[in-house]
Amino acid sequence: MRVLGIETSCDETGIAVYDGEHGLLAHAVYSQIEIHAEYGGVVPELASRDHVRKTLPLIRQVLSEAGLSKSSIDGVAFTAGPGLIGALLVGAAIGRALAWALGVPAIAVHHMEGHLLAPMLEEPVPAFPFVALLVSGGHTQLVAVAGVGRYRLLGESLDDAAGEAFDKTAKILELPYPGGPALAQLAEQGDPTRYRFPRPMTDRPGLDFSFSGLKTFTLNTLNREMAQTGNPAQTRADIARAFEEAVVDTLVIKCRRALRQYASRRLVLAGGVGANRRLRARMEEMAAKEDGEVFYPRTELCTDNGAMIAFAGWQRLRAGQTDPLSFQPRARWRMEELTAI
Ligand code: KG4
Ligand code: ZN
Repeated sequence: MRVLGIETSCDETGIAVYDGEHGLLAHAVYSQIEIHAEYGGVVPELASRDHVRKTLPLIRQVLSEAGLSKSSIDGVAFTAGPGLIGALLVGAAIGRALAWALGVPAIAVHHMEGHLLAPMLEEPVPAFPFVALLVSGGHTQLVAVAGVGRYRLLGESLDDAAGEAFDKTAKILELPYPGGPALAQLAEQGDPTRYRFPRPMTDRPGLDFSFSGLKTFTLNTLNREMAQTGNPAQTRADIARAFEEAVVDTLVIKCRRALRQYASRRLVLAGGVGANRRLRARMEEMAAKEDGEVFYPRTELCTDNGAMIAFAGWQRLRAGQTDPLSFQPRARWRMEELTAI
């Protein structure tokens, strides 16, 4: 069974074909970075318009790279939420229309389920049950995963998502959009011993997060130091490093707590911030000490892509789940509402 995946929830157009027998046949991502860079963040209307321009040509490109014709597709999966509603509508309209024209089922995929299952595209495949840390631009969640669609939220951010905190802090440090990777790069040159930022909510029980205070801490540190220091470039790098250490450490502490609390040995790391090298390395160290294992996809499948949507759609289609024409994309959509398969 072969599923075409279409991802258009934010600022990346991602297309892929997943085949139940042969795995990922082809995938391509077109990033809108250049379009949004001059505004310092994603402009929803420009995102939607660009998805309109890019989705069909990218579908043609991916099918041609896989050596497939449209008629060899058994189902079309599209991201139906959560995300920017205009951007979602583009992928949903194209996906739905294509499925109808080809006479195959359409599957409305939850974007975060896509992220969550993406590590299963790699070897070794994490076996259920596991604990998942989802860290993207819009979400920071710890989830107990018993199977596809069997999700229990253990904790989440009460304010900014980890990726959002990276992006906002990057702006304070005057780094270009997209901020997360730029901040991580600057942090490489930073001295980890110069500043110590707080590890929010780690001194009390529970698995929730709060990252919004860290950007204020960054701003205050920057303002104080800029008034005094003779080396602003190094100060910015040191602050970036302290911020990254604080976020990474907080995520690691909460993941360790979740693994212990749920007696799990398997941790899945997914979502855009999962591309962060320090986060991966520190999670590996922690898991090794806990006698556990961490699973994460290759970097290009951590950030938004069509492969994770094709794969999640395939999982649901093979279980007999399809979605009716009346299905509406949703800007907000909780993962616990999904049906178990
Ligand atoms: O999953 P994703 O591509 O899109 C959403 O679903 O939100 O995640 C994007 C987020 C952005 O906030 C971006 O700054 C962050 O992931 N990100 C990173 C890195 N790469 C992407 N944050 C820290 N370090 C990175 N290397
Ligand atoms: Zn995402």
